[in-house]
Amino acid sequence: MKTFERYLLNRTTLANSHTLAVYKANGGYAGLEKVLKKPMTPAEVIAEMKASNLRGRGGAGFPCGMKWSFMPDPTKDPRPRYLAVNADESEPGTCKDRVLMEKDPHGLIEGCLIAAYAIRAQAVYIYVRGEYRESYDRLLAAIDEARKAGLIGKRVMDTDFACEIWMHKGAGAYICGEETGLMESLEGKRGHPRPKPPFPAGFGLWGQPTTVNNVETIFNVPFIVQKGGAWFASIGTANSKGNFLVGISGHVNKPGVYELPFGVTAREIVDEVAGGIWKGRKCKAWFPGGSSCALLLGADLDVVLDHDSLKAKGSSLGTAAMVMMDDATSMARVMEIIARFYDHESCGQCSQCREGTQWLAQIFHRIATGHGVPEDVATLESLAKGMAPGKTICALSDAAAIPTLSAVRLFRAELEECITKHKDPLAPSRVEYAGAH
Ligand SMILES: Cc1cc2nc3c(=O)[nH]c(=O)nc-3n(C[C@H](O)[C@H](O)[C@H](O)COP(=O)(O)O)c2cc1C
Ligand code: SF4
Repeated sequence: MKTFERYLLNRTTLANSHTLAVYKANGGYAGLEKVLKKPMTPAEVIAEMKASNLRGRGGAGFPCGMKWSFMPDPTKDPRPRYLAVNADESEPGTCKDRVLMEKDPHGLIEGCLIAAYAIRAQAVYIYVRGEYRESYDRLLAAIDEARKAGLIGKRVMDTDFACEIWMHKGAGAYICGEETGLMESLEGKRGHPRPKPPFPAGFGLWGQPTTVNNVETIFNVPFIVQKGGAWFASIGTANSKGNFLVGISGHVNKPGVYELPFGVTAREIVDEVAGGIWKGRKCKAWFPGGSSCALLLGADLDVVLDHDSLKAKGSSLGTAAMVMMDDATSMARVMEIIARFYDHESCGQCSQCREGTQWLAQIFHRIATGHGVPEDVATLESLAKGMAPGKTICALSDAAAIPTLSAVRLFRAELEECITKHKDPLAPSRVEYAGAH
């Protein structure tokens, strides 16, 4: 692998990296100072973000600068406006935002303040996954430190810029990571996604203009402001710029969260960063970006990790959460677990999703436990085709359908063998879990 410059995780290894003193001693808040004291206009900050071509790190890869520019012109639309930071991080396999929040919370706060300035938001709401207690506590303490230091509040850095940052703890629902479900939940309601349009930039939190961004997306902002959009755009591949955090888990020797530039191959990450597939085995299958992506094969490991290359392979970068499976893995069991997750997390508003996720979970369960019937694989396929893409209020339905279709395409013979032999030949010795379908 080529050498590259790290910037996202540099501070995380320092002692007391979560404190204001350490953050400031290592260049912290210089980006905010540049924006407020130089000063840069909000339009200039957005222009820099557009030049960087930073794409959102929350899964969909939408260009960040473009999203910010969708916020209405404040001279024509004087409504209050907000930034909502998506720290719900519940996609199976994804654990990157947690590292940033626990180890470098001021980096996120500085990014929030610069983003709020650019989109002219008066307040930022950080929605943290309920199970992430340490992330929540660290962020809360850092916000307190920053407020006392005059970095948050009525006169940020003694300028006319005013901004508040509020925290909100989720209650364990994956659907509250979907941006409109997140806003409903922040408003104190059930986290049911809203139909789009209207989009959050026009009708967001409490019906006001709102931008929703992922933690890692916002964390990149101070670096872009300080070093310039052109610097950022010089890293990576044609349509995927900068460094990104890969969370690699599953059957590798060194699972973890690593910083890499776009352009590395999956094989480089597995072999050179994550210590190779464990127990000397081979890779059978992997998710490149969390369980909502299409599965890829071990033979696909030479693919470059970026948006375009993964799309060309029929999958997607998602949250860059690589989940690796060795050649002893039962794909019926993998899909049974994943389908159960989506069934549990569907909010139930759309019939395709509510009924479809339940059927997928039931069918994968009976295949994995040797009770499948001959038509099951065809039923999985037709069900999943009816659930995606874009047929429902939000993309959870697609997220359940996409891995299912890839499993049927790549592992049809294995699933059919489970049915014809009335048992899963690769089944781990298992204790039936309570409440199984
Ligand atoms: C079911 C579902 C769950 C999601 N969960 C998350 C999440 O936990 N964190 C996140 O940043 N984005 C999540 N997203 C994507 C968000 O809707 C949204 O696209 C993202 O927060 C935008 O930020 P970005 O543009 O910075 O990537 C989820 C989407 C769906 C459909
Ligand atoms: S697709 Fe599923 S999770 Fe999303 S709104 Fe519809 S029922 Fe709810």
